[in-house]
Amino acid sequence: MKKTVIIYGSTTGNAAQAAETISAKLGGVEVKEVSAASKDDLLGFDNLILGSSTWGDGELQDDWFGFLPAFKDVDLSGKTVAVFGVGDQFSYSDTYVNAMAELYNAAKNAGAKIIGETSTEGYSFNASTAVQNGKFVGLALDYDNQAELSEDRIAAWTTQITPEL
Ligand SMILES: Cc1cc2nc3c(=O)[nH]c(=O)nc-3n(C[C@H](O)[C@H](O)[C@H](O)COP(=O)(O)O)c2cc1C
Repeated sequence: MKKTVIIYGSTTGNAAQAAETISAKLGGVEVKEVSAASKDDLLGFDNLILGSSTWGDGELQDDWFGFLPAFKDVDLSGKTVAVFGVGDQFSYSDTYVNAMAELYNAAKNAGAKIIGETSTEGYSFNASTAVQNGKFVGLALDYDNQAELSEDRIAAWTTQITPEL
């Protein structure tokens, strides 16, 4: 595996837990809170795994707002990005994990190769901007309603993306 970092934003700890579990499954790759991330982190790693919970009306977790503009200043071509999102599919059924789409778009517009799309099977929600062509653009998690599925979902996803990292 090439040099990999996980950068996440989390308010109540769920996305943080996801980040740590993903790291463990990938053999202990570096994990950074987005509030502590810098542009050098975007450039200094071959692989970026970006994660956020969704807040407000389908928005990124607060700490991402200060960092997302950095993606406009960098060229991520040649780098590989995978995204994950944490949300609540029942209470926020019209905006489930929308923040994941923000991360996906930012990385894609910066030229990165995006990997790690997943099936929407097993989830129940009305709408999500993180669904494109019938699939999630990354890994969707729901600690409010399906916490018990998170570990297996993360295990399957890390197995899926490992050959490309
Ligand atoms: C006020 C509020 C707004 C939320 N908005 C959304 C939303 O639009 N879409 C969604 O999928 N989840 C939404 N959620 C659910 C959170 O994303 C979810 O609880 C998540 O696990 C929090 O993760 P964190 O602890 O990493 O911040 C919202 C939760 C709250 C309390």
